[in-house]
Amino acid sequence: MCGIVGATSDRNVVPILIEGIRRLEYRGYDSTGLAVVNGGASPILERLVSTARVADLAAQADALHLKATTGISHTRWATHGAPTSDNAHPHLSGGEIAVVHNGIIENFEALRDKLAAQGYTFRTQTDTEVIAHLVHAHWHADDCHDLLVAVRRAIAEFKGAYAIAVISTRERGRVIGARQGSPLLVGIGDHDHFLASDASALLPVTRHVAYLEEGDVADVRSEWFAIFDAHGERVSRTVVEVQSGGDAVELGPYRHFMQKEIFEQPRAVADTLDGIAAITPALFGARAPDILPHVDSVLILACGTSYYSSLVAKQWIETLARVPCTVEIASEYRYRESVPNANALVVVVSQSGETADTLAALDHAKSLGHRHTLAICNVATSAMVRQTEMVFLTRAGTEIGVASTKAFTTQLAAQFLLALTLAKLRGRLSEEEEGRSLDALRHIPAAIRGALALEPHLIGWAQHFAARDHALFLGRGLHYPIALEGALKLKEISYIHAEAYPAGELKHGPLALVDAKMPVVAIAPNDTLLEKLKSNLQEVRARGGELFVVADLDSHLSVGDGIHLIRVAEHRGLLSPIVHVVPLQLLAYHTAVMRGTDVDKPRNLAKSVTVE
Ligand code: M6R
Repeated sequence: MCGIVGATSDRNVVPILIEGIRRLEYRGYDSTGLAVVNGGASPILERLVSTARVADLAAQADALHLKATTGISHTRWATHGAPTSDNAHPHLSGGEIAVVHNGIIENFEALRDKLAAQGYTFRTQTDTEVIAHLVHAHWHADDCHDLLVAVRRAIAEFKGAYAIAVISTRERGRVIGARQGSPLLVGIGDHDHFLASDASALLPVTRHVAYLEEGDVADVRSEWFAIFDAHGERVSRTVVEVQSGGDAVELGPYRHFMQKEIFEQPRAVADTLDGIAAITPALFGARAPDILPHVDSVLILACGTSYYSSLVAKQWIETLARVPCTVEIASEYRYRESVPNANALVVVVSQSGETADTLAALDHAKSLGHRHTLAICNVATSAMVRQTEMVFLTRAGTEIGVASTKAFTTQLAAQFLLALTLAKLRGRLSEEEEGRSLDALRHIPAAIRGALALEPHLIGWAQHFAARDHALFLGRGLHYPIALEGALKLKEISYIHAEAYPAGELKHGPLALVDAKMPVVAIAPNDTLLEKLKSNLQEVRARGGELFVVADLDSHLSVGDGIHLIRVAEHRGLLSPIVHVVPLQLLAYHTAVMRGTDVDKPRNLAKSVTVE
C-alpha cells in the first residue's frame, strides 16, 4: 500500500527519501516518485517518477546528480487511476506545491469540480491531485501565505482517509504532514526531521519517532517540529524509540521472502511462546487480570489471513472456555447493524496493526460502547497496539512477503493462549491440563519442522497444480479455516482460482465442479471428523476428482489411484491446524514459483492494506 517519506535537513535528503521508500517496497506498490525543492533564489520543484522499481527512481536521481534539503517521496498502490507515470505521486499544483498521499479522498469529485471552476487543470485520474490544488488555492488566499494554514484549511474540506506530506517552493525547509485514518509519524533527528508512514522507512536516520494521532497536523523543520491536534492546539505526542526489526532484510539462502518466512515458523512460534511458564491473564497486559475474568463473550475482528486464524480461535475459545465467540470480517462489521455488548472482549487480530478496515472496525466497536479491547498483533509500534487497552505481541519478526505465513501460525499460538486463559479463569483448565497444553504448544515448533521436511513432496504436488486453473480445498471443523487459508495462499500468489469448503457442504453444490481437471486438497487429521471426511473424499473420487490429502501419521488413509497423500507428524489434537497449514503454504509457494509469478509482491496486492 502507499508509503510516504518526507525530509527536511541541513544535508542532502535525496538518499534518505529514496532509501526510505526502498524500505517500504515490500508493502506492495505499482509506481513510485519523489519531489524536492531545488534551485537558488528562485526555488523550483523537481519531480521524478517511475512505474518500475524504486531502484529505477534512484538511477534517475543519480543520473541527474539530484541534491536537495527538502523533499517528499512515495510508493503508490493504485486506487484512483491506473499505475501510470502521470498518476504517480507526488502531485503538483502551480509549480509550487507537491503532495504525496496515502488514503482515499471520498469527495474528490465534488472538490475537483469546484477547483476546475476556479481554473485549475487536472492532469491525472487520482483523488490526490485535488489535495495539491486545494492547498495551492488556500495558500494564495489573501489571509494565508502559510503552508501549515493552507494544509489545515484544505483538510477541513476532505471526506475520507488520508496521510499526506506537502512541500512548497514558497517555504523551503518545511514539510507539513497530516493524518486521518492512515498512519503517519514524525522522525526526530539532530539537524533533520522526517515524516513517514512507517518507522521502518527511517531506521537508517533515526529510531526516535512521534506517532501522529487522528486529525493531527505536523509542521516539520530541520531544527524543530510541532504537532497540532484537530482543533489547532499545539500538542506533544510521546516520542518512542523504535526497535530495529532488521531480521528480515536479508534473504539468506532462500529464493523469496515468503519461502524464508515459511521456514522461520518454528523460530517465530517458539519466540511467541518464549518465557511463558504458566497460563495467566497477565500474558495479555497489565490490565488484563482486572478485565478478562469479567468478560462474558468474545468478538474477534480481522481481515484476510488474520480472519482465518480467528475462525480457528473461535472454536478453541468455545471448546476450551465455553465462552461464546463471534468472528467478523472487519470490513463488513463496521457497516452492519450489530448488537453491542459492553461485557464482550473485542479482539483485533492483525499482522501489521495498520489494516484500515480492522482499525475502523475497532473504532466502530468502541463507538457502540464496547469497553474491553485486545490487540493480537505483530508490530509493537502499530496503531492497533496503541488503540487497545490490552495487547499480545506475536513475535514473528518482520513479515515481508505479501502472502502472510509466519504471522498466521504465531497468531494461532497467541489465540490458543487466549482460549486457555479464558478457560482457566472459568475453572475449566485443571493444573494437569494446563501443563499438558503448554507442553503441546512447546512441541509445535518441532512439529512444524516435521511439516517443513515434506517440502520435496509438495514440490511434486505443485507440478500438478501449476498447470491447472482451479482448485478446491476441503476441511472440516478446526481445519475448515485451514482449507480457507490454503485456498487464499494459492490464489493470491499463483493466481489459480481456489475455493474452500467444509467437506460436508460438497454435496450441497460444489460437487458439480469436480471432474478429472479439478485438483482437490483435503486436510485430514485424525480427529473425530475423519471418518466423515473420508466419505466426502469418496464422493470426490467417484466423480474422477484427483485428491491431494494432508493426513496425520495415524490417519489410516492410503495412496491409491488418483489419491496423493502426505503425512504430517502424529496427531496434534486441538493444535493440529498450526501444523497442517504448513504443507498448504509450501504447496502455494512452489506452485507460484513454477508459474513464474512475483511471489513476494503478487499483482494488485499490498502487504499492509492501509486504505479502505
Ligand atoms: O496486517 P493484517 O493481518 O491486518 O492484514 C490482513 C490481510 O490484509 C492479510 O492477511 C492478507 O489477507 C494477506 N495478503 C494474506 O496472505
